[in-house]
Amino acid sequence: MHHSCLPAALAALAAIVPETFATAPDGGLLGCRALVSAGMGQNVQFPSTPGGGYRSSLNSYYSLDVREVEPSCVFKPRSAHDVSQAIKIISNLPSGNVAVRGGGHTVWPNNNIANGITIDMSLLGHTKLHQSKESDTAVIASVGAGARWEAVLLEVEKRGLSVAAGRVSTVGVAGLTLGGGLSFHSGRHGFTCDNVVNYEVVLADGQIVNANATQNLDLFKALKGGGSNFGIVTRFDFATFPAGLLYGGIMMATWDHKQTVLDSLIRLIEINEQHPADNQIVLFTYNATADFMTVGSINVNVDGATDSTSFEPMASVPWLYDTRTTQTYAEMVVDLSDPGGERSPWFSLCFQNNKLVANKAAELFEKLVAECRGIADLHRIQVVLQQLPKHYAQKNPGGNVLGMDNSLTEDAILWQGQGYAQARETEGLLREKLATLTAELEAYAKSVGAATQWRYINYVDPTQDPLKSYGPENIAFMKGVAAKFDPHGFFQTRVPGGFKISHVD
Ligand SMILES: Cc1cc2nc3c(=O)[nH]c(=O)nc-3n(C[C@H](O)[C@H](O)[C@H](O)COP(=O)(O)OP(=O)(O)OC[C@H]3O[C@@H](n4cnc5c(N)ncnc54)[C@H](O)[C@@H]3O)c2cc1C
Ligand SMILES: *[C@@H]1O[C@H](CO)[C@@H](O)[C@H](O)[C@H]1NC(C)=O
Ligand SMILES: *[C@@H]1O[C@H](CO)[C@@H](O)[C@H](O)[C@H]1NC(C)=O
Repeated sequence: MHHSCLPAALAALAAIVPETFATAPDGGLLGCRALVSAGMGQNVQFPSTPGGGYRSSLNSYYSLDVREVEPSCVFKPRSAHDVSQAIKIISNLPSGNVAVRGGGHTVWPNNNIANGITIDMSLLGHTKLHQSKESDTAVIASVGAGARWEAVLLEVEKRGLSVAAGRVSTVGVAGLTLGGGLSFHSGRHGFTCDNVVNYEVVLADGQIVNANATQNLDLFKALKGGGSNFGIVTRFDFATFPAGLLYGGIMMATWDHKQTVLDSLIRLIEINEQHPADNQIVLFTYNATADFMTVGSINVNVDGATDSTSFEPMASVPWLYDTRTTQTYAEMVVDLSDPGGERSPWFSLCFQNNKLVANKAAELFEKLVAECRGIADLHRIQVVLQQLPKHYAQKNPGGNVLGMDNSLTEDAILWQGQGYAQARETEGLLREKLATLTAELEAYAKSVGAATQWRYINYVDPTQDPLKSYGPENIAFMKGVAAKFDPHGFFQTRVPGGFKISHVD
C-alpha cells in the first residue's frame, strides 16, 4: 500500500550513509591470504573452508541484514598477539578493509564487511578474576573482548561478585562497553564504561598497550564512549562489587493501561537518585501477528526488594503476563533474551522527563501502528522508554567522552523506536516511517522546550550522528586521541564500521 514511495526513500537513505553500506575493494581477499601465508591459516575461515566455520560465524549475528554481508574471510584470533600480528600485516597492505565484531548485536552492518576481513573475537571470550594490584580488597574481572554478558555474569557470580553488566544475555561486552553501556546497576555505578579500570588495546601499528588511569590516560578516556575509533580492544578489566539477588521481571498489559505505566516511569525517574536500586523500562509493543497492542514494563530492583515504593503507581494494573521473581543477574538477563534473526531498524532520541513528550511518544506509536496494520510481513513494532536521570552522568564526571556531565542538565528519557520484519522491502518501509516519526517527536520535544542533545551510539540509526552529541570539547579530544594513536587513520578509513570521529565537523 505505501510501497510506491519506497525506492525514492531508500535512495535518499543510501545517499546519506555511503560508508556504512558501501562494498569494499577486493583487497580483503589479499589480506586473508596474507594471514594464511604468515602461518595463521588455522584461524582464517573462507566460505570454502571445511567445517562450515565461516557460515556459523555469520549466522551468529543478531540481525539478518548483517548475516547476509559476506566478508572474504572471517579471522578468529586466539590471543591479543594474533590480533597484533594480523593488524601489522593488514595495515602494511595498500588496501583491504576490516570489520571487528564482539557479540555481533548491532542491528546494521558496522560489525561485518563485504569483501573484507571480519575479525570475530569470539574465541577471546574468557572471564578471569584476580586481585587488583592497586588495592588489597578489590577484585578485577578481566574479560576477553569476544565475551557475551551471560558468561561473564555466571563467572563473577561464582565468587559472589557482580559487574555493571548489560541486560540481555547474548549481547556482547565489547560493543556495549565501547559505546557507554546501560546496566541495571547504572543507578549506583553509572555507565558500564565507567567501571572499566583498564583496556588492553591493539593499536593501528600492531602494538599491544594498556590504557588505564596511569598509562595512556587519554586513550583510556576516549575508549569510554568513543566506539571503534582508536584500536581493537582485546580485554576489558572491570571493577567488581558484591552480588545480591535481584527482584524483577517483565510484565505486559493491554494498551489502555499505558498512561498508568508511563506516569509511573516519569515518577520513578524523578525519585531515582534516592532509589538507585530501581529500574523501569517501558515497552509499547504492536504484535502484528496477533494484531494486538500492549504496554509492558520491565521492573527490576537490584537489592531484591519485592515491595519497592518506586513501582507503587502500577500496583493496580491487571498484568496479562508477569515474570517477576527473585533471581540472580545472570538469570534475569536470560529471561529478557531476544531471539534475533530479523531485520530491525532502530532509531533513538533523548528528551527531558516530561509528561507531554512521553504522551506524544505514545500518540505517535498509535499513529504508526495504524499506518502499518496489515503489512503482511511485519512482525512487530516496539517503542522502548528508559530512565536517564541526570545523576547517571555524575558517577564519573569528565572520565568518559559521552559529554553528559555537561549536556544532561535535566532528568531525561532515553527513547527507542524499533521495527521488526523479515523482508528487506518491509524493513525499508519501516525505516522510512521510523525516521519520520523520530523527526516529529524530536521537533515536538523542541517545541515544548524539552529537547536533550545526547544520542546513544548503541541505539541510533546510522543516519543519526551520536558522536556530535558529545559536544565540541569531546569531539576535539577524540580527534586528538585518534591522531596520536593512529596517525595514518587506519581505524578511520580501513575499519569503516561504526561512527567515525573524522566524519564529525
Ligand atoms: C537484544 C539487545 C539488547 C540490548 N541490551 C542493551 C542493554 O541492556 N544496554 C545497553 O547499553 N545496550 C544494549 N543493547 C545495545 C548494544 O549495546 C549494542 O548493540 C552493542 O553494540 C552490542 O555489542 P556487541 O559486542 O554485541 O556489538 P557488535 O555489533 O559486535 O559491535 C558493535 C561495534 O563495536 C565495534 N567493536 C566490537 N568489538 C570491538 C573491539 N574489541 N574493539 C574495537 N571495536 C569493537 C564493532 O566494530 C562495531 O562497530 C542491546 C542490543 C540488543 C540487540
Ligand atoms: C596500567 O598499565 C600499566 C602499564 O602497562 C600496568 O603496569 C598497570 O598494571 C595498569 N593498571 C591497571 C589498573 O591495570
Ligand atoms: C505475537 O502473537 C503471536 C500470536 O498470538 C504469538 O504466538 C507470539 O508469541 C507473539 N509475539 C510476541 C513477540 O509476543
